[in-house]
Parts: sequence; C-alpha cells; structure tokens
Amino acid sequence: MNTRLTIGLVVASTVVGFAVVSFRLVAPASASPVTAVATMSTYVIPILGGTPEYIGAKKCKKCHLKSFKSWETSGKAKSMDSLKPGNKADVKSKYGLDPTKDYTTDGNCLACHTTGYGKEGGYALVEDEKAAKKMEALAGIGCESCHGPGGTYIDLHEEIMKLKRKYKSEEMHAAGMWRIDKDRCASCHNEKSPTYDKDNPIDVAKVKNHGAHARFPLEQREE
Ligand code: HEC
Ligand code: HEC
Ligand code: HEC
Ligand code: HEC
Repeated sequence: MNTRLTIGLVVASTVVGFAVVSFRLVAPASASPVTAVATMSTYVIPILGGTPEYIGAKKCKKCHLKSFKSWETSGKAKSMDSLKPGNKADVKSKYGLDPTKDYTTDGNCLACHTTGYGKEGGYALVEDEKAAKKMEALAGIGCESCHGPGGTYIDLHEEIMKLKRKYKSEEMHAAGMWRIDKDRCASCHNEKSPTYDKDNPIDVAKVKNHGAHARFPLEQREE
C-alpha cells in the first residue's frame, strides 16, 4: 500500500469514526443507536477500533460460557488469592517473599496478577466503593489479559453474535483483539516474576489449555 493511500484511509476512517461518535452524542433517546452502531460497526470498527477499555471477564461470560467456566477454575482467575497473606506460604518462603504480608495492594505484584493494571480502564487501587466494585471484575488474570481490552472489539462480537454471520479471525484482530503467541505469555512469564524458576520455567509454548481455559470449537469462524 503506498503512502498516499494509507493517509487517505486514515483520514476516511477518522471521518467515519467521528460520524459514529457524533451520532452517539446527538441521537435522541427515541432513536436506536444500538441498531445504527451494529450496522455501521462492520465498516468502522475493523479500521478504527473502539476505546481501549478493559470491561471485565463477566462481560464475556454470556456468550462464552464454556470458556468462562473453564477459566474460572484456573490459577489465572484466582491469581489475586496468591497475593493474600497466608496463601501459597511455601512458594513465598522458597522465593524470599513474606508469607504473612498482604501483597494485594502492592503495585509490583498487581502488574502481573490482575487485568490491565495501570492501563486505561484496567485494574487500579481505588478508595470509593462503587469504583472498587468495578475492580472486582478485573482482579485476577481475566480474558482481556491475553485477548486484549474488550472495549475495542466487543461491538464486533455483539454484531457477529446477533447476525450469526461467518467471520475471519483477521477481522477480530483488525478490531483490536490481540494475537496470542508466546511473547504475550512471556510479558508476565519472565524473570521479573519473583517466583520464576530459571532452571525449570513453565514452557508457555507447550501449554495445551492456553494457560487459562480448555479449547472449544468455533462455529462461525471461516478459517
Ligand atoms: C497478565 C500476566 C500473565 C499472562 C499474560 C500470562 N500469564 Fe500465565 N500466569 C500468570 C500468573 C500471575 C500465574 C500464577 C497464578 C497464581 O497466582 O496461581 C500464571 C500461571 C500460569 C500457569 C501455571 C498454572 C496455573 O494456571 O496457575 C501456566 C501453565 C501458565 N500461566 C501459562 C500461560 C500461558 C500459556 C500464557 C499465554 C497464552 C500465559 N500464561 C499468559 C500470569 C500471566
Ligand atoms: C512479571 C510478572 C509478575 C510479577 C511482577 C509478580 N508475579 Fe507472581 N507470578 C507470576 C507468574 C508468571 C507466576 C507463575 C509462576 C512463575 O513462572 O513465576 C507467578 C506466581 C506467583 C505465586 C505462586 C502461585 C503458585 O500457585 O505457585 C505467588 C505466591 C506469587 N506469584 C506472588 C507474587 C508476589 C507476592 C508478587 C509481588 C511481590 C508477584 N507475585 C509479582 C508473575 C508475576
Ligand atoms: C492466559 C491467556 C488467556 C486467558 C486469560 C484467556 N484466554 Fe482465551 N485463548 C487463549 C489462547 C492462547 C487461545 C487460542 C488462540 C489462538 O489459537 O489464536 C484462546 C482462545 C479463545 C477462544 C477461541 C476458542 C478456543 O477455545 O480456542 C475463545 C472464545 C476465548 N479464548 C475466550 C476467552 C474468554 C471468554 C476468557 C475469559 C473468561 C479467556 N479466553 C481467557 C488464551 C487466553
Ligand atoms: C454478545 C456476545 C459476545 C460477547 C459479549 C463476547 N463475544 Fe467473543 N465471540 C462471540 C461470537 C459469536 C464469536 C464467534 C464464535 C464462533 O465462531 O463460534 C466470538 C469469538 C471470540 C473469539 C475467537 C476469535 C477468533 O480468532 O476467531 C475470542 C478469542 C473471543 N470471542 C473472546 C471474547 C472476549 C475475551 C470477550 C469479552 C471481553 C468476548 N469475546 C465477548 C460473541 C461474543
């Protein structure tokens, strides 16, 4: 693709993106922004992407119940528990951590033990109750730690669900869903982890259950 065409595309998509944003803002309550966004999202989201906001694993549950239930029982979902005092005492002692200490408010641990810590809409330490409630959904290593912040691609998934149409994986990634390779896993599985076993690390490339959930066949995906 030559430079001029690229610039043209960026400009065009920005304009379309603007149209959707302004539509959302100016639409009267009686109009149905949901329908409009659903029909437009096919063209807009793959080029532009939505907001890079973390929305929490519970938002994925209604459509991906089997993956959710499988994940729920994994160490990934419970990774905050490992930071609580008393839990995993043996491992902590072995690696020079204090088994009696509460690490659940330690930013050095939350970076890898929660979803999107320090990123827009991701896990954060908050005071007020309502915000804290939202954070519960982001405690632990949720779907979005590997698949990327749902705000970018959720509209597309809704649309594919609603129309029961076929899609290509490429479309998902263009909308902002991350590709998952061993580097993605290595963003947490590395020597910065205090419990990383240099001599015998978890071989993330060989983990069959994706490190978080059993695999289920996709029916609408074309390739
Ligand atoms: C956001 C950080 C993060 C990412 C990304 C990540 N992991 Fe992990 N992983 C962890 C943490 C933290 C634990 C320890 C969980 C606990 O507290 O028990 C863990 C544990 C594991 C375990 C041990 C079994 C278990 O469930 O506790 C396996 C296997 C594993 N991860 C594989 C993977 C694979 C494969 C990928 C990539 C597809 C991956 N991980 C991506 C942070 C991550
Ligand atoms: C760079 C990412 C990263 C950071 C930072 C991190 N962890 Fe972890 N943690 C992991 C990963 C990945 C695992 C899985 C085992 C491994 O490879 O270390 C894990 C596993 C653990 C486990 C063992 C769980 C089990 O079932 O065996 C404990 C306990 C733990 N972490 C506590 C902490 C504490 C406390 C801190 C902060 C002082 C911390 N971690 C910071 C990534 C991280
Ligand atoms: C530790 C990383 C990790 C986490 C956390 C995670 N996944 Fe996945 N997921 C994967 C990997 C790896 C694949 C395979 C992707 C591929 O082949 O490109 C996958 C595939 C999928 C698929 C495609 C069908 C299949 O089973 O292969 C769906 C749907 C899915 N994940 C949903 C979820 C949902 C919902 C959650 C949260 C409840 C979640 N994932 C959490 C790593 C993860
Ligand atoms: C409104 C329903 C709905 C919601 C909510 C939803 N999805 Fe999906 N998602 C779908 C449908 C439908 C498919 C295609 C399933 C098929 O082909 O069988 C899909 C496919 C996927 C795939 C496979 C992508 C590929 O490469 O083919 C992944 C991974 C995934 N979703 C993750 C998530 C995550 C993570 C969340 C939450 C942030 C989420 N989804 C929320 C409906 C949804």
